Amino acid sequence: MTNQIQDNSYGYFDDNNKEYVITTPKTPYPWINYLGDTDYFSLLSNTGGGYSFYKDAKFRRLTRYRYNNVPVDTGGKYFYIKDGEEAWSPSWKPLKTDLDEYECRHGMGYTRIRGQKNSISSSVLFFVPQGEQLEVQQMTLTNHGDTTKTIKVFSFVEWCLWNAEDDMTNFQRNFSTGQVEVKDSVIYHKTEYRERRDHFAFYAVNAPIQGFDTSRDEFLGDYNGFEAPQVVSNGQPNNSIAHGWSPIGSHYIEVTLEPGETKDYVFTLGYVEMPQDDKWEAPAVINKTKALAAIARFDTVDKVQTAFNSLNQYWEELLSKFIVDSDDERLNRGVNIWNQYQNMVTFNMSRSASFFESGIGRGMGFRDSNQDLIGFVHLVPDRARQRILDIAATQFEDGSAYHQYQPLTKRGNAAVGGNFNDDPMWLVQSVTVYVKETGDFSILDEQVPYDNDETKSTSLFEHLTRSFNFITRNLGEHGLPLIGRADWNDCLNLNCFSTDPNESFQTTENKEGGRAESVMIAGQFVLFGNDYVELCKQLDKKEEASRAQMYIDSMVGSIKENAWDGEWFLRAYDAFGKKVGTHEAKESKIFIESQGFCTMAGIGLEEGLVDKSLNSVNEHLSCDFGIVLNYPAFTEYRIEYGEISTYPQGYKENGGIFCHNNPWIMIGETVRGNGDLAFEYYTKIAPAYQDDKVKLHKTEPYVYAQMIAGKEAATPGQAKNSWLTGTAAWNYVAITQSILGIKPHYNGLQIDPCIPKVWQGYAVKRVYRGVTYNIQINNPKNVSKGIASITVDGKSVEGNILPLFDQGSSHEVIVTMG
Ligand code: BGC
Ligand code: NOJ
Repeated sequence: MTNQIQDNSYGYFDDNNKEYVITTPKTPYPWINYLGDTDYFSLLSNTGGGYSFYKDAKFRRLTRYRYNNVPVDTGGKYFYIKDGEEAWSPSWKPLKTDLDEYECRHGMGYTRIRGQKNSISSSVLFFVPQGEQLEVQQMTLTNHGDTTKTIKVFSFVEWCLWNAEDDMTNFQRNFSTGQVEVKDSVIYHKTEYRERRDHFAFYAVNAPIQGFDTSRDEFLGDYNGFEAPQVVSNGQPNNSIAHGWSPIGSHYIEVTLEPGETKDYVFTLGYVEMPQDDKWEAPAVINKTKALAAIARFDTVDKVQTAFNSLNQYWEELLSKFIVDSDDERLNRGVNIWNQYQNMVTFNMSRSASFFESGIGRGMGFRDSNQDLIGFVHLVPDRARQRILDIAATQFEDGSAYHQYQPLTKRGNAAVGGNFNDDPMWLVQSVTVYVKETGDFSILDEQVPYDNDETKSTSLFEHLTRSFNFITRNLGEHGLPLIGRADWNDCLNLNCFSTDPNESFQTTENKEGGRAESVMIAGQFVLFGNDYVELCKQLDKKEEASRAQMYIDSMVGSIKENAWDGEWFLRAYDAFGKKVGTHEAKESKIFIESQGFCTMAGIGLEEGLVDKSLNSVNEHLSCDFGIVLNYPAFTEYRIEYGEISTYPQGYKENGGIFCHNNPWIMIGETVRGNGDLAFEYYTKIAPAYQDDKVKLHKTEPYVYAQMIAGKEAATPGQAKNSWLTGTAAWNYVAITQSILGIKPHYNGLQIDPCIPKVWQGYAVKRVYRGVTYNIQINNPKNVSKGIASITVDGKSVEGNILPLFDQGSSHEVIVTMG
């Protein structure tokens, strides 16, 4: 379908194995993967860079990582192999010795990096076994030559002193606290274990070692970097014990390989929590029983293989819930594999830890987590349920919310505070999406605290009512919602007026009064408010439904009256009551967010407002690489608009392609029935379609990035901030629900495709509430939208909602468009 040239110079997709295969270590930027999916996590680049943490990248960092280091991506899980005088690393870095062969396979929850040099190959499989608090590194060494070889293997991790922020700042203390123990083949990191911490880390290998190091300075030698450790050049370890400074873990193993022989070593890096009264086996000696038991669960290749198989099986099952089968392999690849995988990662991480998010700054976002959930809920509904309850518990009694919370404590982040007035309505979205997917109305009766205070609890349903009421109580002079610090666009800070470069646009006190209003929140209120009304009806709460409907109708009225600019929706009113995003302005005449939300909500559909708004988006905002956020971008700092005007034109929120909001326009296009344009926008940013732009893009070709530089940028098409972005969840919803048209509804699966006219058909397998629907969609008349008939198991169905069936059953659905 597409005629693009594959840019295969860095790697390719292996769809059968659900892997991206990187064929050179010298990618334009480190290309990473995430290991672990519940408590223990690791970020791992194609050259072995990255770090691990338990639950919280800020408060429980196991290994150290220096962001924005030089050379880029320095520090990670390294192996050094010394073969005669030559030393090399299977992941190329850190030694950067040229390899004879190199390959990195990033798969679903695992990465395998293989290097070969002078007839020795080393392949390391990294993954986190399910339910474990550790990662496995299985190293397979093979001698491909015809002489016996004895090589020396050094492993390497650098411990972080747990609190990642403190670790990078508080050196007057940190250089004196580091403590380790070494026993047999296990290195224990126990800094602060003797006082306030009940946890330690270990690094083990399932074979006798011939030495070790735990002091970084002794391992590297004075003034050396990871690319030139002294012990590796000397070919022997120091058996050093760290006292303060920087503790590390390095095993030393001598390996003899006959011609053709293969040997495996299983390294485990893990985290252990101990009960207060059982921490020690002797004074100052860690009680190791729990750690040794964990290590023993993975001390043979067979045990590792079993755990690896179940991880693969787990992903096989997760990814069998939605499978599209179309003629377009890029579409299949994106929908069936990588988009869903990224949804899992964003659900787990929110915006906390990536190669652009340092893991110390952002915690979990209230709005971010609610949105991530909409692309994840079909994968593991129970985890989505728990997440909703956790997020809702950080809401305030007045319906507003902490903007962020920490995953370890699940408490609102006081340093960031609240007052982002879009936050409340995202909870309505996530909860209604959850109920539509699962049919689990019981979640609405759960008692959930406000501000984590159990004494202040109400039903979850009441939380939604308070979200809704927060908006209705906070309207401005045009009948539109007050914006607070910001709405979805963190950088449109209309009440901030900041002149001090040392203050944050988001968290400084806003100017008194806060008059500015947001059209984005207005559209959001109508869109999710409609979902709220529908929910009330499902629950037979008729009065609440009509009360809410009244407010929605009046909001629609205010939008039509006060937020329509003639050809598009305004973006806001500023603190002086002046229009933002109007043709009257010199810069930023039009913004994407209000076009997205108002068209998704179908506001003014009959009067042609949706058409006009979307035509304006196409004319002014769309470009080759996607749809930019605003146009023309600000060229100077405008104190009344805030951070948005601080970015150079074409980057981030100032004229960048902020991918998160592109699917809003795709969905808007499907509201007006334009399947051609909806899908064209989809292919503009979907990673699977960028195979001719890999080099330009720089970031991983298998995942969405938050931002692609826009048409006014100096480097249009260059992506930044890959992985952790609401783009993943929203694009998944746009393609699967609005374009392919398979949409969960309270009473069953609703079928409503909006596709390019040339498509003749496609099939979708959807497992929904335990029932498998095999859906064949035919488009004999080449339409974009509209259904002529639906049959289920040969019988025709009234309307477009598929009936519910017994769990475990399978049903054949034939949809004829026309
Ligand atoms: C970024 C936003 C981000 C915000 C809050 C801004 O600098 O441009 O994308 O959400 O900071 O961290
Ligand atoms: C990134 C934040 O995580 C997200 O919440 C926000 O909506 C976007 N930036 C846009 O500013």
